[in-house]
Amino acid sequence: MDFVAKRDLAARAARAAGNQMMKNAKDAAVFDKARHDVVTTMDLANENLLRDLLLAACPQDGFLGEETGTVEGREGMWIVDPIDGTNNFVHRLPYYVISVAWQFRGELCAGAVYNPVTGEMFCAAKGSGAYLNGKPIHVTGVDDPNHALINFSFGMRQQADFERTVRSIAKMGDVADFRRLGSAAYECCLVACGKSDGFFERGLHVYDFGAGAVILREAGGTVTGWPGEEDFLTTGNLLASNGKMHPYLTACLA
Ligand code: IPD
Repeated sequence: MDFVAKRDLAARAARAAGNQMMKNAKDAAVFDKARHDVVTTMDLANENLLRDLLLAACPQDGFLGEETGTVEGREGMWIVDPIDGTNNFVHRLPYYVISVAWQFRGELCAGAVYNPVTGEMFCAAKGSGAYLNGKPIHVTGVDDPNHALINFSFGMRQQADFERTVRSIAKMGDVADFRRLGSAAYECCLVACGKSDGFFERGLHVYDFGAGAVILREAGGTVTGWPGEEDFLTTGNLLASNGKMHPYLTACLA
């Protein structure tokens, strides 16, 4: 299986959606989808473009999108978040991305994450390294919390996730500083390219972090679940780091 070809297709699709978005963003209408969860007409337009483009190129594959659900396939599965960080998009904060992952036999094997505002294109294929705008990227070697910058999100959709996150953060008094940017896919990529040392959040979905997880692993990072919940693909409870910060973060999340 040619994972690099899937990565390159993911990147082409993400860029096409980003270009469409930059042209039409001002016309997007916003709707409440669920508690603490918004969707825009731009999410739907991006997802339609991504599904059509990816399945036309790979008719044997399936498709799982945040907004329109699943199309079964016979080979791999495209896992797409048409805008990860929709709330930022709605508030015109520049932390939102198009995230396209490709899963094969249950494993995330290729992905691309594109920020249409900054023009950052992150991509990776299993075994072939991770790249930002064509240049190889790597995680930091920071292992001392006193020098670490850690991204996180509160897990706003479930009160129990929110409370557990707050309890965990209260144990992280040694961490130099925290950032909460509001796009899990983008934040995994920031760890991958060495701008952050770790990221954690509960209650995500595989489309939020699928591409980010491949990119981070290929950049030398570690992606797991929270302690005692290793199956993060199912639980959506994610701990992602440069690897060196994993023991400290794991202990604090316990
Ligand atoms: C959201 C972002 C955000 C995270 C939420 C996700 P969306 O994705 O990843 O960082 O805190 O849990 O749902 O809804 O903008 O695609």
